[in-house]
Amino acid sequence: MLKNMSEIGIAIAGLGVVGAETARQLTKKNTELHSRAGTAPVLRAVSARTQKDRGFDASGIDFVPDATALAARNDIDIVVELIGGSDGVAFDLCQAALKQGKHVVTANKAMIAHHGHLLAQRAEDANVQLCFEAAVAGGIPALKLLREGLSGNEIERVTGILNGTCNYILTEMTQTGRGFDEVLREAQEKGYAEAEPSFDIDGIDAAHKLSILAALAYGEQVNFPSVNISGIRAITDIDIAYAGDLGFVIKLLGSAGRGRVPTVQPWLVARDSQLAKIDGALNAVAFDAEPVRSIVCTGPGAGAGPTASAVLADIIDIARGRRSFAFGRPAASLKSNGDLKAVPPGRFYLRVMVRDETGVLSAITSILRDHQISVESMLQKSQSANKPVPLVLTMHETAHEPVAAACAELRGQSFVDGDVLALPVLDSA
Ligand code: HSE
Repeated sequence: MLKNMSEIGIAIAGLGVVGAETARQLTKKNTELHSRAGTAPVLRAVSARTQKDRGFDASGIDFVPDATALAARNDIDIVVELIGGSDGVAFDLCQAALKQGKHVVTANKAMIAHHGHLLAQRAEDANVQLCFEAAVAGGIPALKLLREGLSGNEIERVTGILNGTCNYILTEMTQTGRGFDEVLREAQEKGYAEAEPSFDIDGIDAAHKLSILAALAYGEQVNFPSVNISGIRAITDIDIAYAGDLGFVIKLLGSAGRGRVPTVQPWLVARDSQLAKIDGALNAVAFDAEPVRSIVCTGPGAGAGPTASAVLADIIDIARGRRSFAFGRPAASLKSNGDLKAVPPGRFYLRVMVRDETGVLSAITSILRDHQISVESMLQKSQSANKPVPLVLTMHETAHEPVAAACAELRGQSFVDGDVLALPVLDSA
């Protein structure tokens, strides 16, 4: 088929909730999108495992069972990859599409976190666009903000609530006092959490997104393995309650500072700070930068509408002829971030489950003293006899390494009966 230059041909691979919503928006709002893009985005082909009604008018749209075949079609200018997975069909399709000179739009955070630099290089070689706004924080245009709105700034720190499932679980625990297992089970029953939730609750999903944000913020090659990750499985209703008594809520934060190891871990966040107020399944991304200082954006980080919103923005940018480097700079200029410093020192919360025996408190403070850690405050509420009791301490500013070493030593003590948990404290955000 000859190309009609006033149209831009689109193929969507993957018709799950996001793919179907993107198809619905493209077909339903074609005239409006045309006027915004200056060129008519026309959905010409879709690919999925099964062909069925997905709530959009599929007349005139080819159904192609083999997604990779989309890359070879002359009537397609933009391949929208919504299959998912870091490798396999999604990666094959994106590589093939770029090789064939097609623009690629994807929501695939795992693929970009693992292969983003290679794909960005391939896109530049083929003089086409690789866009992945939907891969990070769903409906929040966080990558556009970094690449365009903040392009004149030096980014000092990116901090985000990047996983809606974890934020939902922690918010429910905070608001209802229920335990982690019960809230997770309910979230699964309601469809907020996956049946296999480990990508979300173990912090992997947030780490994918953080590694992409850090690459854009600091002009680095995306480096998922550099992220230090711990999820929310260890957070108990006890921690939520003690954090509350101390004036904090617990949030899973992704945090990347210039030249520092990026981390995904639960933090105690001061209750009156902006990030503490981002509840439920919402996401937020905060930038500390010069000269702008501080920006916090919040919104839905997942779901059909918010993710399709980001996919459509990428499609319209390409249709308009807006050109930008995938990571904000030429791929060849992106630095390898092999030499990262530890995160800066800070205050910590420590919770140790102990037997309520004489000398336990002094033994714990001795261990902390031996690691040069200064105790700031201590809480222990009485519990029923013969059960391990939580002993909660906060520490003055200290580096992370001595805290990790003290926790390891505490875990080996006979009076410790249960988990030892240390969480960093964020006073303002
Ligand atoms: N499962 C993710 C979340 C959304 O809960 O935020 C997709 O990354």
